[in-house]
Amino acid sequence: MRPRPVPPGSRSALAGTDRRAARPARLGGTGVIPAGSLLVAEGLRKTFGSTTALDDASFSVHPGEVVAVMGPSGSGKSTLLHCLAGIVRPDAGTVTYAGREITGLSDAERSALRRSDFGFVFQFGQLVPELSCVENVALPLRLGGVKRRAAESTAQEWLERLEVGDTATAPLRIRGHRAPAAR
Ligand SMILES: Nc1ncnc2c1ncn2[C@@H]1O[C@H](COP(=O)(O)OP(=O)(O)O)[C@@H](O)[C@H]1O
Ligand SMILES: [Mg+2]
Repeated sequence: MRPRPVPPGSRSALAGTDRRAARPARLGGTGVIPAGSLLVAEGLRKTFGSTTALDDASFSVHPGEVVAVMGPSGSGKSTLLHCLAGIVRPDAGTVTYAGREITGLSDAERSALRRSDFGFVFQFGQLVPELSCVENVALPLRLGGVKRRAAESTAQEWLERLEVGDTATAPLRIRGHRAPAAR
C-alpha cells in the first residue's frame, strides 16, 4: 500500500485503499477479506476538521506477515496505524483484531489491549523523561500488574537482546529507537 500525498482539506490518499484483492477469500457476509487475518480494517474513515485523513481505507495482515505502509508526509499513514492500534477511534469503519472488533471497545478496554498485545515504536520515542531507560521499558509490565523486580528483569533482558543493556539505568541515554523497541 503506497498512499499518495494529499493537500489539507482534500480527499484522502488512502481513499478506497485496500490490500484485499491479492488474497481474496470470504469471511462473513459483508465483504471479501483474506481468511486467517489477524488484524482487519474495513471502510475506515477519519477526518480532522475539513481534512479527510482516511476515506474508506481497508487493510488486513496475517499472523507473522510483515507490512510496510509507505507514503509521503500527510498521506494518512499515522492515522491508519493509530486506528489499527485503537489509539484513535475512526469516524466510520471497523477494526477487528483476533476476531474481536476493537472499534467497539471502550477507551479502557482498548488501552488494556494495547498494553498486552500491541507494540509501538513511535517516531519520537514517547519515553517518560523522569524514568530511567529500564524503568521505561518495564512500565507496560508494571501497569499490567507485574512486580517491579520481575518487570525490570524482563526489561533488562530485552535491552540486552537489543544491545543497549549498558544504558539501562541511565536516565534515557538511549541510542536510536532500541529502548522504545525493547518496551
Ligand atoms: N490530530 C490532528 N489534527 C488535525 N489534523 C490532523 C491530525 N492528525 C492528522 N491530521 C491531518 O491528517 C492528514 C494525515 O495525517 P497523518 O496520518 O499524520 O499522515 P502521515 O502519517 O502519512 O504523515 C494530514 O493532512 C494531517 O495534517
Ligand atoms: Mg506519520
